[in-house]
Amino acid sequence: MTSKFFITTPIYYVNDLPHIGHTYTTIAADVLARFYRQRGRQVFFLTGTDEHGQKVAKSAKAAGLQPQEFTDKIAAEFKKTWQKLNISFDFFIRTTEPFHEEYVKGFLNKIWENGDIYPGQYEGLYCVGCEEYKSQDQLENGICLIHKTPCEKVKEKVYFFKLSKYQKELQKIILKNQLEIAPETRKNEVLSFIKKGLKDVAISRSKVEWGIKVPWDKKQTVYVWVDALLNYLSGDKNHFWPADLHLIGKDILRFHAVIWPALLLSVRLPLPQKIFVHGFFTISGKKMSKSLGNVIDPVKLAKTYAVDVIRYFILREFSFGEDGDFSQSRLKERYQNDLANDLGNLVQRTLSLIKKEKIKIKPGAAPSCAAADHYLEQIKFKEALDEIWKLIGQANREIDQKKPWVKGQKEKIKILTSLYRQIETIATALKPFLPETSKKIQNQLKTLKIKPIFPSTNL
Ligand code: MSP
Repeated sequence: MTSKFFITTPIYYVNDLPHIGHTYTTIAADVLARFYRQRGRQVFFLTGTDEHGQKVAKSAKAAGLQPQEFTDKIAAEFKKTWQKLNISFDFFIRTTEPFHEEYVKGFLNKIWENGDIYPGQYEGLYCVGCEEYKSQDQLENGICLIHKTPCEKVKEKVYFFKLSKYQKELQKIILKNQLEIAPETRKNEVLSFIKKGLKDVAISRSKVEWGIKVPWDKKQTVYVWVDALLNYLSGDKNHFWPADLHLIGKDILRFHAVIWPALLLSVRLPLPQKIFVHGFFTISGKKMSKSLGNVIDPVKLAKTYAVDVIRYFILREFSFGEDGDFSQSRLKERYQNDLANDLGNLVQRTLSLIKKEKIKIKPGAAPSCAAADHYLEQIKFKEALDEIWKLIGQANREIDQKKPWVKGQKEKIKILTSLYRQIETIATALKPFLPETSKKIQNQLKTLKIKPIFPSTNL
């Protein structure tokens, strides 16, 4: 096994402020980055913002700002949000930065020179929300199934990339897991899409101004998705390519599992090892949308709850590959039950007894929870947390059943030392998920200065 670990999130459109959906992927990536760092791997964690294209230009116009001014503002908000949420990214890429623009031009020149690009005319439907050319199977009466808005009719001169040329090779690579797509259902989804036949795709637009110019034809702008996908290479400041893991939501699977590897095959660069596709969540049963007014701002949420509470909730509440529902009442319940009661009380009860009985225990190098680590390796956050909470439950039951306070000194020491070690293991296993909480627990283990880790608040 190589010691490097290169993990990415999608780069987010700066048409609006970050919401809880973006937060979901980013926290998941952060947990894995921290987990592998803890294991001694050299981690490179890349995230950033996707700043060109029609959708962003439209939002800038609506805000009455020049696109660059607008994207500077929103990109800064993304960065600030991730810093607030304790996201340990190693590099934050912005696609409007000159080094990225140069990279994109160089990459396109290579494909152009090897004959995989040709000029043509595109005529069809385009969803600005998805920044995607749509085929009829992705629409319902011309309405985008994701955005529920009508598509634009476009007819423009473009350059096409010979995607069809790579159909067979892609099929083979995905079937053989040379490019692993997980969960399995997503792999099958991609394979059946490829099997239907791949059409060449437009990689430039002539009616869009805001973007990188095609190097051999300044009248054309590079299609925003090609621009964006290339962030994974231009942002690879550690020269770790190929990426070990791209984390993405199910909405952007085709771009990552079809167009992206084909572009890489065209220039003969290695493919990413794995793409993991997670589900989407709704908010109290409804699609999150501005018009419904139910968009959840992670920064506001972090003012009510500690950052770790949000990190915990979104990864514990539902399985990562599947869709789920985000509800504030469930968040409150989990805060009270899992965090304040189960975990908080375990630490407080155990350490109070140790302090009261004046028992001296030296902090040790606690092993992590093997079962939880095993699940994390498989990108199963919920299942990993379930395992950690099994340990917490067991330890709580042990106190209740063994009642160390009624035991003689020798027995008391034995029981409390064992509980102390169990809490050490819990703190280690929790570290990638809840870094601040883990630190607090480790501090209290060391100093026996006991304070509630999750104070009851008037939530
Ligand atoms: N800019 C493109 C990605 C380019 S990557 C080379 C894009 N950006 S986006 O801002 O729309 O972000 C999409 C990603 O945000 C999804 O793939 C997913 O990771 C996350 N989510 C957005 N809404 C979400 C939910 N409601 N639920 C879960 N994740 C969500 O697409």
